[in-house]
Amino acid sequence: MENHLLVEAANAFGTPIYVYDLPFIAQRVETVQSFFEDFDFRLAYAMKANFNKDLLSLLNKLGTMVDVVSFGEYLQALSVGFSPERIIVNGNCKKESELERYVKDGVYSINLDSYEELLRLEKIASRQVRVSIRVNPDVDPKTHPHIATGLKENKFGVDFDTAHEMIKRINSNKNLELIGLHCHIGSQITEVEPYLEAVVSIKYFAKSVGLNFEVLNLGGGWGIDYGNGKAMSLQEYREKIFPILKELNSKIVLELGRWIVAPAAYLVSKVEYVKRTPFKTFVMLDTGMNHLIRPALYGAKHKILPLYETKGREKIKADVVGPICESADTFRKSYTMPRPREGELVVICDVGAYGYAMASDYNLMPKPKEIIWDGSKLFTSS
Ligand code: LLP
Repeated sequence: MENHLLVEAANAFGTPIYVYDLPFIAQRVETVQSFFEDFDFRLAYAMKANFNKDLLSLLNKLGTMVDVVSFGEYLQALSVGFSPERIIVNGNCKKESELERYVKDGVYSINLDSYEELLRLEKIASRQVRVSIRVNPDVDPKTHPHIATGLKENKFGVDFDTAHEMIKRINSNKNLELIGLHCHIGSQITEVEPYLEAVVSIKYFAKSVGLNFEVLNLGGGWGIDYGNGKAMSLQEYREKIFPILKELNSKIVLELGRWIVAPAAYLVSKVEYVKRTPFKTFVMLDTGMNHLIRPALYGAKHKILPLYETKGREKIKADVVGPICESADTFRKSYTMPRPREGELVVICDVGAYGYAMASDYNLMPKPKEIIWDGSKLFTSS
């Protein structure tokens, strides 16, 4: 988004604010859909990344599906108009009462995370229900350990032997229809190799048990470039993954979250003041880890750019920090930036995924407002 729009938003709505660029999101959806044009492909947006209602309404209008991981997300998806047949239910700990509702509503698929969950579902599957099995292929996604999910020590999914047992059980139950396999190996993945390992082992598994599945859901995980030049390469993905997907000949579902929305949002913040100690300089912002926890939680490095005139400004090296009473409340350490003055604005970039969604009112500092840019005007999100 252009800087002047972010400044305009801050002037109109105050700071700190999240600003969402909806046309950018529409463009990302279009890009991924045309990337898979040779396949029977469905994008199921992973709404855990950002469950803002205006954003979800846009995706609903664009006709995507949605992946939910909780009953709260399910209700949010329904509330903006997603019909149950366009909702995929994930999550590793589904409650019985929630499963009952998903069965009754007829969701697209309940993705079973465990054998135990299958037993739970069997008890309440009083009518036809479509299920998938989340397999854990024991693949290292080469990402931050907190967001790796496809290693055997992770709590997610089942090993192939257990999946085989589940398939037999599902096939012997007239109310359960196995539509496919699901596999989400992690998030912010910037290499194609882990996906290759995962799809190859799924292929061999399917062959070995004689499974012809309708849907292969490869989860999400595509990494974006936060400023270090590393991102998922679509070209390499096409070269290495497409041939195997073609062989499998099933419908492909991806549950992308971050790749769709991360670069589409900005956290605009005011510099309260610049503090100097004998050891360091700190740029104090009016937003902190309460609004964007990714740096504290994963060591994430988001670009921070000035929204002020930088010509002729001295460059400083500072820790950019927030107002929260924890030393982890640091966005960047020894960050080079033109010296800001009190009251000037900066923007923290690529915060559309797991930004506001993970924000809290810790220290009783309220959450920021969410502002929408729809391509022609800025307004407060409903
Ligand atoms: N599908 C499933 C089953 C998932 O668990 C996730 C993310 C996704 C899809 C979407 O993944 P994505 O395309 O966004 O990578 N809070 C962390 C990320 C946690 C991801 C959790 N699961 C962060 O800020 O990096």
